Amino acid sequence: MNNRFYITTPIYYVNDIPHIGHAYTTILADVLSRYQQQLGNNTFFLTGLDEHGQKVQDAASKRGIEPKDHCDEMSKHFTDLWERLHISNNDFIRTTEKRHKRVVKKILKVVYEAGDIYEDEYEGLYSVSEERFITDKEADTGQFRDIKKLKEKNYFFKMSKYQNALIEHINSNPSFIQPEHRKNEILGFLRQPLNDLCISRPKSRLNWGIELPFDSGYVTYVWFDALINYITAPGYLDDKISFGNYWPANLHLIGKDILTAHTVYWPTILMSAGIELPKTIFAHGWWLMGDAKMSKSSGNVVNPMDLIDDYGVDPVRYYLMREMVLGQDANFTLKSFINRYNSDLANDFGNLLSRISTLIKKNFDGYIPEASSSGDKEKKIISQSQELIKKFDDNMSKMSINDAIEETLQFVRNINRYFEHMAPWKLVKEDLKSAGIVLYTGAEALRICAVLLSPIMPQRIKTLLSVLNTDSVDRNWGGLKSGTKLGEHKPLFPRINSDIF
Ligand code: MSP
Repeated sequence: MNNRFYITTPIYYVNDIPHIGHAYTTILADVLSRYQQQLGNNTFFLTGLDEHGQKVQDAASKRGIEPKDHCDEMSKHFTDLWERLHISNNDFIRTTEKRHKRVVKKILKVVYEAGDIYEDEYEGLYSVSEERFITDKEADTGQFRDIKKLKEKNYFFKMSKYQNALIEHINSNPSFIQPEHRKNEILGFLRQPLNDLCISRPKSRLNWGIELPFDSGYVTYVWFDALINYITAPGYLDDKISFGNYWPANLHLIGKDILTAHTVYWPTILMSAGIELPKTIFAHGWWLMGDAKMSKSSGNVVNPMDLIDDYGVDPVRYYLMREMVLGQDANFTLKSFINRYNSDLANDFGNLLSRISTLIKKNFDGYIPEASSSGDKEKKIISQSQELIKKFDDNMSKMSINDAIEETLQFVRNINRYFEHMAPWKLVKEDLKSAGIVLYTGAEALRICAVLLSPIMPQRIKTLLSVLNTDSVDRNWGGLKSGTKLGEHKPLFPRINSDIF
């Protein structure tokens, strides 16, 4: 039976155009979603935009336009980029949509009626950049900008009531927060008494938000609004069957910067509303430029469009997936991108296809030769290909995508070595049939690697498979048909001139 797999990205703020950090999480979700689909699972992949709150209101007012107009304009930048990056999301949610506002109001009502929301006058330090009240201790860390003293009547969510239940849930569900060190970080945080969460903003200060159903003088806090997108999209209010099918989400992918909101605010809100918790929240690290996080305020953002224009979409996807060890930070440099591209894609992978197709065209009129029988060397390649699939799946289930890719490339290097050893370019002169077996073995092994890499580089792999004249995405040996004619092709990954360094 097929399983369902519901995967989400954070919904991005529309205060600026997307950069490689946003592109990264979305590509990662796309790769995992395509991979799950390849395994035969029924996937639902959600991404979208977080359009309310102070940051967006400020960005719009700086431009002298209405927040909604600003959002509509920004949203196009994101959807255009997702299209160019071949993102295969099933839904795209914007928090200003009616379907979402209804759900937020409903959850606020349910939580209010459960007695988990109370009113209080609060005086404390407020961080404008974080859009929340902060403790004195937090203010002392120096990590918060634009702090001011504020006294206000507000509504609070009784998060503290769920502290023990949350700790219990984290302890009894080891895969709830991933990777392990992030789980420990949150358990450490939960050793201190948990404060209640201020979930309202007076309209006098911020009106770009969803109005509280029980007090029209307030809008709800942007995080209370945003997190709920994950249940709006699969149909919490609109489609009970779909919701029952997809919720709880299998995987919320996030960056480490939004860990607390996802692993403390979100589960306690769900507990109060009586909704099941997501299965896994996985926090990846940051892409750094030098030692600094890539972000708008640091002014060191890499525009993904420029990279794609220069080098193509799939090489960029490949680099991002190969270079980051999930859970840790990674450094982005153009030099390492070009090195990775030239060594893995141009030399090892692309070259293997060129070798095979040149020899088949020259000696077999372009028809894939027979693989009637095989010797020990071929049997070894066949068994290595099946071991690779096991290792690949094992790595993917541990979210070690970089290792899954590296294992595949190692096998590609093995195939190249097998060719050098068997030298089919010489063998054709002595024993055409044996040379044909070597070429078939190399081509079929390459097809399997291509199938494994197709969630990462969907377009180029499609081209490769069409050159091999097959649409077989079967991961078992034997998908390639002898006697079919190879297609014409240009080099799949032309070498990039690296003299610029
Ligand atoms: N709107 C909130 C999320 C709400 S989710 C219910 C938000 N948006 S954001 O636009 O700031 O995007 C945050 C996410 O973008 C990060 O968690 C991460 O997934 C991604 N990244 C942004 N910059 C990044 C890097 N430099 N490196 C890697 N990912 C980064 O927070």
